[in-house]
Amino acid sequence: MPEFILAASILSADFARLEAHCREALDAGADWIHVDVMDGHFVPNLTIGPLVVKALRKLRDEKKTLLDVHLMIETPDQYLDDFARAGADRLIIHVETTPHLPSTVQAIKALGLKAGVTLNPATPLSTLEAVLPEIDLALIMSVNPGFGGQTYLPASTDKIRRLRGMLDRIGSKAWLEVDGGVTPDNAREIVEAGATVLVAGQSVFGGSGSVGANIAALRKAENSQP
Ligand code: DX5
Ligand code: ZN
Repeated sequence: MPEFILAASILSADFARLEAHCREALDAGADWIHVDVMDGHFVPNLTIGPLVVKALRKLRDEKKTLLDVHLMIETPDQYLDDFARAGADRLIIHVETTPHLPSTVQAIKALGLKAGVTLNPATPLSTLEAVLPEIDLALIMSVNPGFGGQTYLPASTDKIRRLRGMLDRIGSKAWLEVDGGVTPDNAREIVEAGATVLVAGQSVFGGSGSVGANIAALRKAENSQP
């Protein structure tokens, strides 16, 4: 099975010691930090904003990692600048939140950031087509966004396969990221379907084991035989 990038979602981290918890994940082999921004409108949950991105900036510089910022918010255009100034490396927007997807992607790139695009489980892949050649990352949501610790929706695997085909057909080298319910039990299936980046919250920061043991379990899934 090919290797994958592991993006640790801070949603399941201990916010009272966020930097230390993220450091633990990076030291144990996580590659990126995934920051879930929720506004209580587009999704029924409220989380964090640019201030928390800014708080992680020092660690990001020290560890030379990347802050992968997932915007589950209405009117994302209004906040692109704030997240850029806070230190985000990539902004991922939902196709459902902007009527002018190519312009929003261009606005992200004009700020000098990497641009990613994502869609809800019920949204068809055709909504991504217009911007596929422009983006650095396409994200398949494998749960309905809003909360960490949900169960992976099995239909996501076919969607990942179809998106892999779309990217390959246009010769795109964009990352194919998958977010929601990733565990050591399904990591292999997801990567074999064509994903190159796995987001994991509960499987990194949750459970009774250490962050190091959790990440080792995810990486082991990669190496196990079918
Ligand atoms: C869900 C978020 C995910 C979530 C992943 O709305 O976008 O990033 O935190 O968490 P797990 O891995 O616990 O499903
Ligand atoms: Zn996310």
